[in-house]
Amino acid sequence: MPRAIISPSVLASDFGHLNAECKRMIKNGAEWLHMDVMDGHFVPNITMGAPILSCVSKGVPGIFMDCHMMVAHPERWVNDIADAGGSLYCFHLEATSEPLLLIDAIHERNMKAGVAISPDTPSTAITDEVADAADMLLVMTVYPGRGGQRFLDRCVPKVSELRARFPHKDIEVDGGVGPKTIGPCADAGSNVIVAGTAIFGAEKPEEVIALLKSTVET
Ligand code: DX5
Ligand code: ZN
Repeated sequence: MPRAIISPSVLASDFGHLNAECKRMIKNGAEWLHMDVMDGHFVPNITMGAPILSCVSKGVPGIFMDCHMMVAHPERWVNDIADAGGSLYCFHLEATSEPLLLIDAIHERNMKAGVAISPDTPSTAITDEVADAADMLLVMTVYPGRGGQRFLDRCVPKVSELRARFPHKDIEVDGGVGPKTIGPCADAGSNVIVAGTAIFGAEKPEEVIALLKSTVET
């Protein structure tokens, strides 16, 4: 299995001090930062877009921005997010009919490409061709749209199914993940772990990050 990567979701951070919050998490052992982009169409909420990501990439040199694009028409934002310093562009399979073209466009802008599936989308919706072209697969363990929701156990089998099909691919889980729910995620074979509330809400985030990482590694 690929190595463990912890990607704290800044959605649970203090947006008024976003750069400082990102730096704090890197200091605490985070390798990636998960940036939840919501457009008010694909999901009801609006969070942040390229202008804010651009401030973060300038203010936090070397940051790896794991951009989770909860947007309709994901092809529209590839250039803006690349210009803003995005490192990985993860779009929702439900939002496009041309995933392969989109993956090519993302790679052309030198970003890694991720493909996300919402709770009601089966793992089989990700074809071998799409998975082979993508760098990462994201299995949502809550309905996309907001942080702090309850982890949906019923999504975990999809992680196992994808890990069985793609032993070497990065597989990310996102939504309600923390010390209480990391066990099944790790057992199922996810190696990229997103956690918002569980990390930013902790008194000692470094301990939560270390625990999530060691659970995946063992
Ligand atoms: C939900 C977002 C998640 C969310 C995770 O739509 O994609 O990244 O911020 O937050 P927690 O860990 O609090 O569920
Ligand atoms: Zn997310």
